[in-house]
Amino acid sequence: MKSPETLMLLHQDDTLSLHLGDVLETLASLPQESVDLIFADPPYNLSNDGFTCHAGKRVSVNKGVWDKSNGVQADFDFHRAWISACYRVLKPNGSLWISGTYHSIYACGFALQLDGWHVINDVAWFKPNAAPNLSCRMFTASHETLIWARKSKTAKHTFNYDLMKNGMWHEDDFIKKPEKQMRSVWASGTPKPHEKAFGKHPTQKPELLLRRIVIASSLQGDVVLDPFCGSGTTGVVALQHGRNFIGIDQNREYLEGIAIRRLKHIQEQVQACIIKEQLESLYALDAYIDESSIQLSLCGIL
Ligand SMILES: C[S@@+](CC[C@H](N)C(=O)[O-])C[C@H]1O[C@@H](n2cnc3c(N)ncnc32)[C@H](O)[C@@H]1O
Repeated sequence: MKSPETLMLLHQDDTLSLHLGDVLETLASLPQESVDLIFADPPYNLSNDGFTCHAGKRVSVNKGVWDKSNGVQADFDFHRAWISACYRVLKPNGSLWISGTYHSIYACGFALQLDGWHVINDVAWFKPNAAPNLSCRMFTASHETLIWARKSKTAKHTFNYDLMKNGMWHEDDFIKKPEKQMRSVWASGTPKPHEKAFGKHPTQKPELLLRRIVIASSLQGDVVLDPFCGSGTTGVVALQHGRNFIGIDQNREYLEGIAIRRLKHIQEQVQACIIKEQLESLYALDAYIDESSIQLSLCGIL
């Protein structure tokens, strides 16, 4: 029997739903084939009481109880179960991204293969500012892998090729060359300080990485789902780019303490930009600048 604490809709409006609860139970409550894009950043199962280096100090690698391994078979069973649950809610032409390191990504890839998904790409996310290796007995881990998959080989997934090729991605990524095809190695640092303004999540993804994923593989008005949404990074980018967002996480502190506040702030910014556009179309910008200065500053124009 589920207690209210294990399955709860914490917030819902026209563009945003946030569910507090276990990923499997919550995915089972969503309608079949209702989602266009899924980005999943599941536990990497790397919290093994080891140590790493952060800001020049020796710190524990542990992220939380949720990130502990339960053994190879149990970890694989979990990954297979949530990936199957994603298959049910994803539309036939939708696509799924999964992030991971060697601790988890092979299990996720094998689950995808067993369940008949078709892998479109695997992307190496290179982290130029990765922490140094303390043991000096191996290479310094400085990348994560992103698998991008669709439900079948014949599915017509969204890929915004021109936006990837000709967008200004090279301004933040020294690997991407202007007006050249985007390749499958991306360089992006860890989240910027302003991305942590509403609180810190131990494994927060950079907005830059999610921006590329959301813009590459979804359209305006699409529904984007993140089944392990943590601090809401996927939602931030989805809302900024005119997509709708559904987030799931079992941790109340992450959802209430960070994600909701962060996402409501983005909704206010987006709303202000819509008002600005409406004002601009009605009046010359100069004539309206005083009255709309708050909205314009929120949009980053002033
Ligand atoms: C790697 S973090 C995701 C971080 C997120 N991408 C961000 O940018 O903040 C994984 C998240 O999955 C959540 N989680 C772990 N196991 C879960 C489960 N069984 N059901 C729901 N959420 C779970 C954790 O609370 C954690 O916030």
